[in-house]
Amino acid sequence: MDRDFYDSKTSKNIKATKIHLKSNQAPSNFRVITVSVNSNFNSFIMNILIIYCHPSKESYTYEILQHLTSMLRKEQIDFEISDLYAMNFQTDMTAEEYQREGFANLNIAIPVDVQKEHQKIAKADCILFLYPVWWSDCPAKLKGWFDRVYSVGYAYGYNKSDDAIQTMKTVPQGIVLCTAGHSNEFLHEIGIAQSMQNVMLDDRLGKRFKNKEMIILGGTIEKEKVKLAHFETIQSIGKKIKNYCN
Ligand SMILES: Cc1cc2nc3c(=O)[nH]c(=O)nc-3n(C[C@H](O)[C@H](O)[C@H](O)COP(=O)(O)O)c2cc1C
Repeated sequence: MDRDFYDSKTSKNIKATKIHLKSNQAPSNFRVITVSVNSNFNSFIMNILIIYCHPSKESYTYEILQHLTSMLRKEQIDFEISDLYAMNFQTDMTAEEYQREGFANLNIAIPVDVQKEHQKIAKADCILFLYPVWWSDCPAKLKGWFDRVYSVGYAYGYNKSDDAIQTMKTVPQGIVLCTAGHSNEFLHEIGIAQSMQNVMLDDRLGKRFKNKEMIILGGTIEKEKVKLAHFETIQSIGKKIKNYCN
């Protein structure tokens, strides 16, 4: 099966095919590239980019992050975290940046912190967004990540024939994982679950992701009642990632 890999030497995505060869069996016309493999030599290492957005380590969302990362370690899935508050990620668009974004002026350089996020996206097989629901959406800081990281010419508004600018790749899998005070049933009953799904999955992830899913970990007002079920849901995420990305 062909897979996209980020080649750090050329800063480009390359296609690689999984083959099984003994070390001395490569035909002379093969360009052999080294790819990392899991310890069981059975699958490519997957890179998960977690975009995490919560200001406090005392929070339930942070507990979910801990549980998630320990599950990923157990499943031998590589991950990297963009912890937006810890990084003090700038989420307000400056007037200068607006000159680029608002008028699609692709000659203006993309800010360095945004470029760093683009590089992380290029390496990711799956991007997982983890945040608490605040006023029926993600926190403003994560919204600002989309405002700035989804640069014009990169995430939208590009001309396929013009390869002067690196465009965003199609990410194999996107998972939106949010904690919510209200129960899932109530959020569905009042239509908020659907509207969050429309905005996050249909618009923000959109066609930039091949497979996508939103998981609401609801009912955190009474977290002791829901914690076990939430933790079980987290356990199942590793298998989903392996299914989609392997
Ligand atoms: C500013 C703010 C706004 C919130 N808005 C909502 C909301 O619109 N819907 C909801 O279900 N829960 C809402 N909550 C509850 C959070 O989703 C809940 O606190 C979070 O999922 C889990 O708590 P944590 O902050 O300890 O991680 C809100 C909480 C805060 C602090």
